[in-house]
Amino acid sequence: MRIIMRRISASKLRFLSLFTAMSLILVSSLFLGTQTTHAASYCQVTYSVTNQWTGGFSGNIVIQNTGSTAWTSWNLAFTFPASGQVVTQGWNGNFTQSGQNVTVTNLSYNGSVAANASVTSNPGFNGSWTTSNPVPTGFTVNGNACNGSTSPTPTPNPTSTPVGSTPTPVGPTPTSVPATPTPTPPPGTHVANPYAGAQGYVNPDWAAEVQAGAAATGGTLGQTEAKVAQYSTAVWLDRIATVSGGTGVTRTLAGHLDAAEQQASSSGKTIVITIVIYDLPDRDCAALASNGELTVANNGLATYKTQYIDAIAATLSLPKYSNLRIAAIIEPDSLPNLVTNLSYTKCAEANSSGAYVQGIQYALNKLHAISNVYNYLDIAHDGWLGWSSNFQPAVNLITSTVKGTTAGVNSVDGFISNTANYTPTTEPFMTANESVGGNPVRSSTFYQWNQYIDEATYDADMRTAFIAAGFPSSIGMLIDTSRNGWGGANRPTAASTSTSLETFVTASKIDQRLARGNWCNQPGGLGARPQANPAPGFAAYVWVKPPGESDGASQLIPNNEGKGFDQMCDPTFHGSQQVNGGNLTGALPNAPLAGHWFQAAFDTLVQNAYPAVS
Ligand code: BGC
Repeated sequence: MRIIMRRISASKLRFLSLFTAMSLILVSSLFLGTQTTHAASYCQVTYSVTNQWTGGFSGNIVIQNTGSTAWTSWNLAFTFPASGQVVTQGWNGNFTQSGQNVTVTNLSYNGSVAANASVTSNPGFNGSWTTSNPVPTGFTVNGNACNGSTSPTPTPNPTSTPVGSTPTPVGPTPTSVPATPTPTPPPGTHVANPYAGAQGYVNPDWAAEVQAGAAATGGTLGQTEAKVAQYSTAVWLDRIATVSGGTGVTRTLAGHLDAAEQQASSSGKTIVITIVIYDLPDRDCAALASNGELTVANNGLATYKTQYIDAIAATLSLPKYSNLRIAAIIEPDSLPNLVTNLSYTKCAEANSSGAYVQGIQYALNKLHAISNVYNYLDIAHDGWLGWSSNFQPAVNLITSTVKGTTAGVNSVDGFISNTANYTPTTEPFMTANESVGGNPVRSSTFYQWNQYIDEATYDADMRTAFIAAGFPSSIGMLIDTSRNGWGGANRPTAASTSTSLETFVTASKIDQRLARGNWCNQPGGLGARPQANPAPGFAAYVWVKPPGESDGASQLIPNNEGKGFDQMCDPTFHGSQQVNGGNLTGALPNAPLAGHWFQAAFDTLVQNAYPAVS
C-alpha cells in the first residue's frame, strides 16, 4: 500500500463539487427510507428509530447543514410527542432533557460542519417509552427551524430485544450496528446497504492477537487494548493460500465464513463480513512493501482468475453461506496507481498488459453474480486523487472499467476510500477553501493545493461524480476509519487563531503526519468505530486495515510472501519531493513485514484513539 502525491499548478485547479448539495439531500432518503423533497435554507434533520422493543428503543439523528455557511458548533432541539419518551443514554452529543424537550449539543470532535455537509459521528441514543413511541416532527438547529424527516419505526418485537433486556449501545463503541427498520429482508436478499441492520464479523484470529498483546502490555493500557478485540475488521485474502489453504494460513476463507456463521447463530443477528480481494499480478506496483505472489510476466492474470477469484467465488456461493452478507473490497490501490504512477515500470506493465483492468472486471463479474456479495471498489484517498488533475481521470478509468463488466455499473454497490491509510474523515477545525491571511487552507505546504483536506468531502464529491458518470444513486461510500482518529495529546481542540496560513494549518489540523504522502506505520489513532449509515451517502465506516498489523517492514526482511522492503517504512529515510516533499517518513521503527502483528503500532493507535476507547 502506498500513495503518491502529484503536484499540480494552481492554474489547473478547478472546483468539482457539482451537485454535492443536491445529492446529499437525495441520498438521505435513500439510506434511511425517508421522503425528503426539498432542502431548508439552514438545516435538515433526519430522525430514525433504528430498533424498538417493549419499553425501549434506539434512535439515530442525522443533522445536515443545508445553508451556505459553515457551523463551528451546533445545538439541536426537538420535542418528544409522548410524555413517557426519555433519552437514557446518548453518544456523539451532549443530550439533556427537560420534560419532553430534548437538547443535543456537539462534542469537541463533531462541532464543525461545513456548508452542505452533515455532522460527522452523528448523534444517537437509547431511550425508553411507555404507551407509545411517536417520532418528533419539529427540529431546530442553533435556533433555526429545519426540514425534518423520519424513517419508519420498527414494529415492537420483544423476542428480538437486544441481549437480555438491556439494549446494546450503538454509539462510539458498537460491536453491532442498528437493526434495519422492519420489514427485515429475508436472509440472502441483496439489500441496499449490507452494513445496515447487520453485526460485523469479528475475526477471531485478529481478536486473539489483540488479546494476547493486551495481556502482555498489562496495566491500564492493556485493559483498554483488550476492549478493541470486540470490533469487526476485514479479512485480507492477500494470497491464494488464504483462500485454499497452505503454509502459515491458520484459517482459510471457508474457515472465516464458518466462524461468521457461528457468530450469526450465537447472536441471532445477520452478520456482515468484509473481505479484501488483494492479489492482482504486479500488486502494489508503485511500492515494495505489499508486493504479492503473482506477476504479469509469469502469466499471473490467468492464475489470478482460475486459482484465486474462481476459488473465492466457489466458496462464497456455497448455499450454507447464503444468509451472510459479504462485502468485498476490490483491489486497494490498483486502478489509482494506473492514474498517477505509470512512470513506475510495474505500473506501466500492469497498465499495458491490461492485467489490473481485466483482473478487476473478472472479479466484479464473478462476485456480483452471487446475490449476497457486495462489491466496493477502491478509490484511494483524497491525499492521492484529490487534485483535479487526478480526480476526473480516476473517475473515468474506474467508470470505464466497471462499465466493461457484464452487469455494467450495477456490478458495484459502492466505493471505498482510505483503505489502510491515515487520512482523517474530517478536519474539524478548518475547510479546504477557508481563507487565512488571504490564502486558502489548501494552498498550504501540508495540502499542496489539493482540492480536499479530508475524506468526507472527497467521498461525497466522488460519489456525485460517479452518479454523473452513470452509476445508480444507490451507491454507498465506505471509509476505512481504523487508523484515522488522530487523537492523543497533540490533537488540537480548536482552530488556531493565527492569521499566518502555515501556522494556522499546522496548529489546526488533526492529521499529525509530517507529510500527507507518508503512508507506512504512522503514529495515528483508532478512528470512528465501525458503524452503518454514518452520514447520507455513506454505507458505513469500516475497519479494513486491522489495527496492529504492519504496513511494511522498516528494514529488509527475507520472506516467502513476495513482500519487499520499501524505504517509506524506514524511519530514518527522507522520501522524495514527489512522494512526501522530502520529509522524514515518520514511520514507527522496528516494524515487521506488512500484515504481521506490530504491537508497538497497536499501542500507539490505542493511545491516540479518537474517540478514546472506553
Ligand atoms: C499487506 C497484507 C495484509 C494487509 C492487512 C497489507 O498491507 O500487504 O499482507 O494482509 O495489509 O494487514
